[in-house]
Amino acid sequence: MNIMNKMTFSTKKIGRVAIKNRLVRSATYEASASTSGYVTDKLVAFYEKLARGGAGLIIKGFTFVQPNGRAFPLMTGIHDDSYIAGLAKIAKIIHEHDSKVFLQLSHCGREVGPGGWDGEIIAPSPLPDSVSKKMPRKMTVDDIKETERAFVDGARRAFEADYDGVQLHGAHGYLINQFLSPHSNKRSDEYGRTLENRLRFVLEIIEGIQEEIGKQIPLSIKMNAVDFLSTGIQEIEAVKMAKTLEKAGIDAIEVSGGVWDAAVKFKPFAFPPECRRIRSIEEEGYHVEHARLFRQHVKVPLIVVGGIRRLEMVETVLRENIADFCSFSRPFICEPDFPNKWREGKSNDCECISCNKCGMDVTKAISLQEQYLGVRCLYKEKKSRRKK
Ligand SMILES: Cc1cc2nc3c(=O)[nH]c(=O)nc-3n(C[C@H](O)[C@H](O)[C@H](O)COP(=O)(O)O)c2cc1C
Repeated sequence: MNIMNKMTFSTKKIGRVAIKNRLVRSATYEASASTSGYVTDKLVAFYEKLARGGAGLIIKGFTFVQPNGRAFPLMTGIHDDSYIAGLAKIAKIIHEHDSKVFLQLSHCGREVGPGGWDGEIIAPSPLPDSVSKKMPRKMTVDDIKETERAFVDGARRAFEADYDGVQLHGAHGYLINQFLSPHSNKRSDEYGRTLENRLRFVLEIIEGIQEEIGKQIPLSIKMNAVDFLSTGIQEIEAVKMAKTLEKAGIDAIEVSGGVWDAAVKFKPFAFPPECRRIRSIEEEGYHVEHARLFRQHVKVPLIVVGGIRRLEMVETVLRENIADFCSFSRPFICEPDFPNKWREGKSNDCECISCNKCGMDVTKAISLQEQYLGVRCLYKEKKSRRKK
């Protein structure tokens, strides 16, 4: 081990789970499940490659807890016990490579992409988002209870499938964020209006999971430090949320930001706010300062995501105690083995240029045929074709 990567390759725990290094694969939609959301051999092979590449923790991509929570085609489901066996294959293969795996439980609510759920859409309030433009039905309290139950059942299934932990997707404008954000939550009942009420949906999910599986595996959340909208979540409110979530027993927080409505602001669409374009070193690590703010208020392990591309930045984040882990999505699509290269001193950065040519565009309508080929780095494919 060289002096450059000293802290990056040290062990750190989330709950009781020891993670061999500080490099986390952030949840990434794979577009490789079957049309009904079952795990395929292609998906298992995808995770085998990632685990072989040396990531300490892999967060399995968007896994929908109810059929009406599927944002895109070929997403993985966890809404029925029949999904457990397939999901267990992913956990097993990752464990064989000495990595740990969390499963991200998600529901898209009103943010339904091309080829996603095509029935009635539900959301906290009847407001269409600016990308899908479809009018959702306002959730009744019965809908809320049913969806909370689906998250709890999803966590129990992830535990039964031998995942080391669970992550609630509370970011990027999906359902949990829709409740948290004043931008999308206009309810006047006990689930809206005040911050306390907007937190109720996620807090009831957390309570339900704790009743169902106790503290047997850690429960984390990915949340927005900012929605990047003047009407949405701002840093100060996000910090208050983080403190409440910590108090409720959340074991780790991944700091992210952005909702689809803000993608309109961040033109062109190919660069939604959670996956920003990066053209210079100054643009890297766009949630690092948000994590620094969170660190001043919460003690649970923090994971910071968003445009982190260099070992030097990871070491700084760890040395300055800004966060405990750095997570990456696009770099792992481009170069699944960059952690091994960093550990062996073969490189100190990522090949990924954050061009968002990851085989799909998360906000723009692209052909489903394209999407069905799965997530992959088109930039690298083009480069290798040129070489030949
Ligand atoms: C193709 C693609 C799929 C994604 N899928 C998810 C997902 O399933 N869940 C999630 O929380 N974030 C998802 N994201 C966002 C990433 O996890 C991450 O927050 C964002 O890309 C910024 O990190 P990066 O600069 O390392 O890519 C996705 C991003 C991309 C590019």
